[in-house]
Amino acid sequence: MVYDVILPAAGSGKRMGAGKNKLFLELKEKPILIHTLEVFEKDEWCRGIYLAVKDSEREFIQNLLKHYHITKVKAMPTGGAERQYSVQSCMKAIGNGDIVLVHDAARPFILEPTIHKLVEAAQQKGAAIAGVRAKDTMKRVEEGIIQETVDRSTLWMIQTPQAFRFELLQYAENHAEQDGFLGTDESMLVEREGEFVYMVESSYENVKITTKEDLVFGEAILNQRIG
Ligand code: C5P
Repeated sequence: MVYDVILPAAGSGKRMGAGKNKLFLELKEKPILIHTLEVFEKDEWCRGIYLAVKDSEREFIQNLLKHYHITKVKAMPTGGAERQYSVQSCMKAIGNGDIVLVHDAARPFILEPTIHKLVEAAQQKGAAIAGVRAKDTMKRVEEGIIQETVDRSTLWMIQTPQAFRFELLQYAENHAEQDGFLGTDESMLVEREGEFVYMVESSYENVKITTKEDLVFGEAILNQRIG
């Protein structure tokens, strides 16, 4: 089985407040971006990595790739103002393909067995995404007032990777662009085409490094894995 992976890495990381791209912050003395890239570098099913970057950060990232011997990056197109546009620029760089994965560069703890389950599911069914069951009681709130307690048993917290047959994602993205529709993930674009998207149960460890507490959590995960 083979796939290409898109890693949007062109965010500004405002919620981290680090004054630079959060992907350059280090966990166990290695940039978060490199932790994520190494997962795909090592995975034999992964044919190519497409990294959406900011123009101002391209050279710095190129140097990191050399330093850490990352060889599978096939293109580094310029990212857009929204994550969806960053993903789109990578789709254009790939051109055509079989299975494509989209994975937040800020999720360095993804495990290979989950990736493989997603690739197999997308191959068989068209679209599959990673997520975990909601753990807390969930309520819908408006203006600080509880409107409803939502049935938790059907709720999932969605992560990446999200895996698709290439042509399905391409079609859904083009259609969203024509309609001016902006989604918070790729699955939304495919869902609005009326296509089924399948859930693959992932791990609570697959966090997106977003705020400062996530760095502490991330160090703890790595300590437990590699000591
Ligand atoms: O900001 P957030 O953590 O939700 O971003 C998720 C991922 O998408 C990050 O890896 C970030 O670098 C990337 N991104 C992007 N282009 C944007 C916004 C975010 O590539 N315009």
